[in-house]
Amino acid sequence: MTRFIVIGLGNMGRQIGKLLKNCSPHNNIIGVEKNLPKGETNLPFTVVDSISKIKLTPNDCSILCIKPQDLHEFSKELNTNVSDPGGLISVLAGISTETLQKFLPHTKICRAMPNLAMDKGKSDTAFYTNDKALGELTNNIFSHGGSPINVSNERDIDTATAIIGSGPAFILKLCHAMSDEAEWQRVPSHLAPKFAMASLKAAASMEDLSKISQITSKGGTTEAGLRVMNKYNFDNIIRSTVRTSISKSHELDHETREY
Ligand SMILES: NC(=O)c1ccc[n+]([C@@H]2O[C@H](COP(=O)([O-])OP(=O)(O)OC[C@H]3O[C@@H](n4cnc5c(N)ncnc54)[C@H](OP(=O)(O)O)[C@@H]3O)[C@@H](O)[C@H]2O)c1
Repeated sequence: MTRFIVIGLGNMGRQIGKLLKNCSPHNNIIGVEKNLPKGETNLPFTVVDSISKIKLTPNDCSILCIKPQDLHEFSKELNTNVSDPGGLISVLAGISTETLQKFLPHTKICRAMPNLAMDKGKSDTAFYTNDKALGELTNNIFSHGGSPINVSNERDIDTATAIIGSGPAFILKLCHAMSDEAEWQRVPSHLAPKFAMASLKAAASMEDLSKISQITSKGGTTEAGLRVMNKYNFDNIIRSTVRTSISKSHELDHETREY
């Protein structure tokens, strides 16, 4: 039976740990967190404060949830005196399979890119792997938090990082601006965010980008608003946002590899 080691219990690691527990209450899970606040007991699995306390075996699946900038320090704590440390699923933004292999003893690697909607079953996690069995395991785990998307080109994971991982923040920023304007239009402050979220919920439920034309009736309010978005080059702003985010992934990989 696979033992799961969730490394880094921040925003993402906690959700993944809980997801593993939801997959099966019998899953054998150990969390690794270097600075777990004292007295923290609400995690449904054992936690140790360093990976050096664990001897990895071929039956292990490590799920790396630390920040990319911490990879180098983490690699120094790892007990590399093992012939086969099992599989590694990394959710780190930017860090390529090649860089992971440079710092870690793992050869079976999967890069996964979820988002924090996993606990609502709404994180369609993209993943890329060099190992078929690890891919099946990754698909199985993340299918409990949304619909996994298997990509065959590692480059696509950096694009997924910008759109699936970071993207929810970009969309929420749009909703924030809508909410601010609703308030400026004197909608009560407790209702303004609800208006924005109503718009977001509707758009998300449509799951079809071509629906814009159905919402846009000729000479109507939507058409007038879209004209302003076009005038201010909204598409370029968003494309440039995504492109910059992808470049940051490449930068993180480069900086880590050159460390
Ligand atoms: N947040 C998202 O929505 C999201 C989405 C997709 C992918 N990701 C990826 O997920 C990863 C984690 O993001 P996050 O938002 O969860 O960050 P986070 O909240 O900062 O969590 C990272 C955790 O790892 C701990 N840590 C650092 N070094 C460690 C070590 N050697 N051993 C054990 N624990 C260690 C950190 O402790 P300290 O704070 O004490 O350093 C922190 O608690 C990142 O690589 C990010 O690219 C995040």
